Amino acid sequence: MPVTLTPTLPRFAQIEPIGRCNLACRMCTVNERGDAVTELSIGRFAELLDQMPGLEELHLQGLGEPMLHRSFFEMVQMASARGIRVSTNTNLTLLTPERAVRCITSGLASISVSLDGASAAVYEAIRRKASFAKVLRNLGRLVDARDAAGSALAVRAVMVLMRSNLDELPALLRLLHAYRVPELLVQRLSNDLAQPQLPVRYIAIRDYVEDAELRADDLEHARAVFDEARRLAAELDVALHLPRLQPRATSPEPRDGPRCRWPWDQLYLTAAGEMLPCCMVATADRVSFGNVFGSKGAGPTPGGASAAGGLVERWHGDAAQAFRAALAEDEPLAVCRSCALYHGTF
Ligand SMILES: C[S@@+](CC[C@H](N)C(=O)[O-])C[C@H]1O[C@@H](n2cnc3c(N)ncnc32)[C@H](O)[C@@H]1O
Ligand code: SF4
Ligand code: SF4
Repeated sequence: MPVTLTPTLPRFAQIEPIGRCNLACRMCTVNERGDAVTELSIGRFAELLDQMPGLEELHLQGLGEPMLHRSFFEMVQMASARGIRVSTNTNLTLLTPERAVRCITSGLASISVSLDGASAAVYEAIRRKASFAKVLRNLGRLVDARDAAGSALAVRAVMVLMRSNLDELPALLRLLHAYRVPELLVQRLSNDLAQPQLPVRYIAIRDYVEDAELRADDLEHARAVFDEARRLAAELDVALHLPRLQPRATSPEPRDGPRCRWPWDQLYLTAAGEMLPCCMVATADRVSFGNVFGSKGAGPTPGGASAAGGLVERWHGDAAQAFRAALAEDEPLAVCRSCALYHGTF
């Protein structure tokens, strides 16, 4: 079935407020990223919102820690005042009591807290530079502020499932229940970074990810842990979202569309203004549709040189069209072939 290569601007966008982080999680590429690392100014943020008048949902997070941005809550406030539903994802290490209150008063609709373990040993081995005790203190601050205000702020936890933390899943559910967090999203590693010509700076992370990913002979045990987790989640009334353990079967031919719809349905911008096909790519040195702020894009693109232009021009530009065309084919680009969303395991 033919697909359009120039879809209308989507109602969902993800914008990275800042491209750096105070932590060094083992599976994350943030500290090795080879594209421009910057902070999005509040002025540029407003310009971006102006260029997306139909925007309904904004996920204010990219590759980096959103709360490192000094104007993070002003951005939330600005977007929510326009009637946009704003969500974020945070490591929660920087949450002061004042910021816990801003989470409520800024109009933030949803906050996802990364918790990759239920014990200090497992959590801190993955989330280097973080203190498990401080993050739990901060989680307490957040839910206390929510409950004191009678706020509808959605608070959920996100766990990246790996061989080292699989067995902590039931304990994590108990911990979340104790902290009055009603939802846990468990996701797999996003990418095996098995891209040909991967820049050498990513190789240590690729090796970590390869080792951390569940193997075929872990799956039976993982199914048993998942069964126990489902039972416990029901008992504790925690909403639990578990990932697929095996890749999705290849859909029969002819397919009725691309295997992934991200570059049609959602728009992703780095703090430096690079438009990427999706959040899974995360850095413009892997692929980019070009820069929306008029400077030359940092990375290689499937459509040739990265051109400059406004947001709509980049969304409909040659690089975006070439990427969508490749994704709609049976043989996608290497960046997609190594992506967990492409295989349905995320
Ligand atoms: C890149 S972080 C940015 C927001 C914030 N710094 C945080 O950690 O929540 C967003 C989410 O991606 C997850 N993440 C990082 N590296 C990942 C990987 N290789 N595979 C899957 N998820 C990953 C993090 O655990 C976090 O939940
Ligand atoms: S996962 Fe989040 S907290 Fe960890 S290093 Fe990456 S951006 Fe920072
Ligand atoms: S398959 Fe993965 S890498 Fe490719 S566009 Fe979709 S989410 Fe991005």
